[in-house]
Amino acid sequence: PELILSGIQPTGSPHIGNFLGVLSKWVSLQQTAHDSVTLLYPIVDLHALTIPRDPEQLKKSKIETAIVLLACGIDPARSLIFEQSRIPAHTELAWFFNCITPMGWLSRMTQWKSKLKLKTNSQFSEHDVLSSSGLCLGLFSYPVLQAADILLYKATHVPIGEDQVQHLELTRDIAEMFNKMFRQNVFPLPLPITTSAKRIMSLYDPSKKMSKSDPENTRINMSDPPEIIAEKIKKSTSDSLKYITYDPETRPAIANLVTIYAAVQGITIDQVVVEHGKSNIKTFKDALTQVLVEKLSPIQKEIQRLRLEQGYVQQVLKNGAEKASIIAENNLDEIRRVVGLK
Ligand code: TYM
Repeated sequence: PELILSGIQPTGSPHIGNFLGVLSKWVSLQQTAHDSVTLLYPIVDLHALTIPRDPEQLKKSKIETAIVLLACGIDPARSLIFEQSRIPAHTELAWFFNCITPMGWLSRMTQWKSKLKLKTNSQFSEHDVLSSSGLCLGLFSYPVLQAADILLYKATHVPIGEDQVQHLELTRDIAEMFNKMFRQNVFPLPLPITTSAKRIMSLYDPSKKMSKSDPENTRINMSDPPEIIAEKIKKSTSDSLKYITYDPETRPAIANLVTIYAAVQGITIDQVVVEHGKSNIKTFKDALTQVLVEKLSPIQKEIQRLRLEQGYVQQVLKNGAEKASIIAENNLDEIRRVVGLK
């Protein structure tokens, strides 16, 4: 039996990077995965605490994230969506993993460095790492909690964007070490599922991924109205060539727009280039705006509708947590025995 799990942080509005990179995959797995496969999509609020946030804002973002997931087509009858913090087993397993994960593995992770806006390629001494820049223990051990999210349910497959692949590799390393340490095959080694849109770039700086924590004009949010989409695409970085090619090395900004177009339309990069190669950039940007608006409009209608149905959304989250916690508690019980707590 297989189990598919992936999480999203409730940190502001999900954007088309999240949607094209993973959420659309989460939705399509509901059809393509066998009925016996359990699908779990936690909203990882404990991870969101690693960067201090306004408590009221965090609460709102959780509901909004759940609304966007449902509006994108997550079907609560097929997939479980739930708040991570409702299931304390996540933190208990994270503690077990904290006790066996070497600091060296975590110091190689790039995410805490980028969150602290440190240059990932510069060399840190152990001393720099530990004393520098207000690095808190929670942010440093963030990937350990992520490993716990995944392994608590013995997930076999994890649909993620490229930025999370390193965390999944760490998860496999932790699983393998745990299995060896206790001489039992407790955890499967989970595999990533990625799509051709695994790394959608910023509209402003095509060397950076599109991110919730960057300024508004660098990304398209799932709830952006047509005028805003048009404006952001129009102002997105481009170049002075009068035709469209896919060349990530020399034309990264245009390549990113081509990737977005292909992902939105569900066609290949080659098809986009054949169809639009002779267009100038303005014409192509107009076409991209149009397909984005067409894709997002029905989702946005659903977002609007669900915003008025908060009771329903809360109920979905509650049911999801109840069902997920059965799997979690059952597995945690086994793990407690394996480590000798029981
Ligand atoms: P988060 O909330 O940053 O992003 C959610 C998912 O969206 C993907 N993603 C992107 N894909 C393509 N292009 C982009 N520009 C882009 N930006 C984000 C991410 O790769 C991710 O799959 N640590 C995770 C949350 C997490 C998790 C987990 C994921 C916690 N526990 C267990 C999987 C399994 C994160 O911060 O995702």
